[in-house]
Amino acid sequence: MRSVIDISDLSLRELDGLMDTAEDIIARPGAYAERMRGKKLATLFFEPSTRTRLSFEAAMYELGGNVLSVAGAGSSSAAKGESVADTVKTVSCYADIIAMRHPKEGAALVAARAAEVPVINAGDGGHCHPTQTLADLLTIRREKGRLDGLTIGVCGDLKFGRTVHSLIGAMSRYPGNRFILISPEELKLPSYVKGEALKKNGIPYRQTTDLEEVIGELDILYMTRVQRERFFNEEDYLRLKDSYILTPEKMKKARADLAVMHPLPRVNEISVQVDEDPRACYFKQVLNGKYMRMALILMLLQEGGAAGRREARA
Ligand code: NCD
Repeated sequence: MRSVIDISDLSLRELDGLMDTAEDIIARPGAYAERMRGKKLATLFFEPSTRTRLSFEAAMYELGGNVLSVAGAGSSSAAKGESVADTVKTVSCYADIIAMRHPKEGAALVAARAAEVPVINAGDGGHCHPTQTLADLLTIRREKGRLDGLTIGVCGDLKFGRTVHSLIGAMSRYPGNRFILISPEELKLPSYVKGEALKKNGIPYRQTTDLEEVIGELDILYMTRVQRERFFNEEDYLRLKDSYILTPEKMKKARADLAVMHPLPRVNEISVQVDEDPRACYFKQVLNGKYMRMALILMLLQEGGAAGRREARA
């Protein structure tokens, strides 16, 4: 049985295969409309979410499957003190696959070890968010026609921004990419991400606090929100929250073929006027995320047949 906790759980071949499946789903949605008939996805979200949860649920419905949902920790037994392990053991009795979001780093791994069915990490604290990266990869491939030889600027909260950690993990495995890490001093990329992704793969990178100085060099600009919920005090958040605001003025300095990305939700980081710019890709990312989650669910359930195994054990 296969879970996806980190983007490195998927090989480059599998990533490419998922993107090919997503493209095929986009081209021939009818061919996939019954593929998960009789299967159930449980979404266990212990942190706020709009896109990721609805995207998983829409993905399962569009494959002909069903969805069971626990929307918030407050309404589940976690509020009574139940452990993540016990919760997922229980949910494994009802569902064929689980998508889980949790505020603690490592919670998804704990869940995967305890579960009887595949677990997909839909975000674990400030650690990682592999399915957002699937959305990002398809968006980059569709916009730029390739995933290698790109200069990628990641901007904002690189310390707590889990989407950035997973994206850097993935893009560091394609040849010829380089990164410009744009953040305030206090929100720099954690050294474990630099070590495990950038240094390990010999990826060139540089760090700066100045977006305008580097925007003209970029093929991709990946903006992020300052992660208020991970701060220890509100004062620091208020001081740092508007460190970067992408405006039409700043976009004038960017290349004509720049792709502006953002995992969303946006707070102030991109002015709404930029939405009209053809280089803005963040709402395309949302749609691509649904197709990639469809492809991932298909891959995990076709490989495993979780329900079958559960029945065989019974
Ligand atoms: C991101 C997340 O949850 O990490 N949202 C998402 O899933 N698209 C980004 C964020 O919350 O800033």
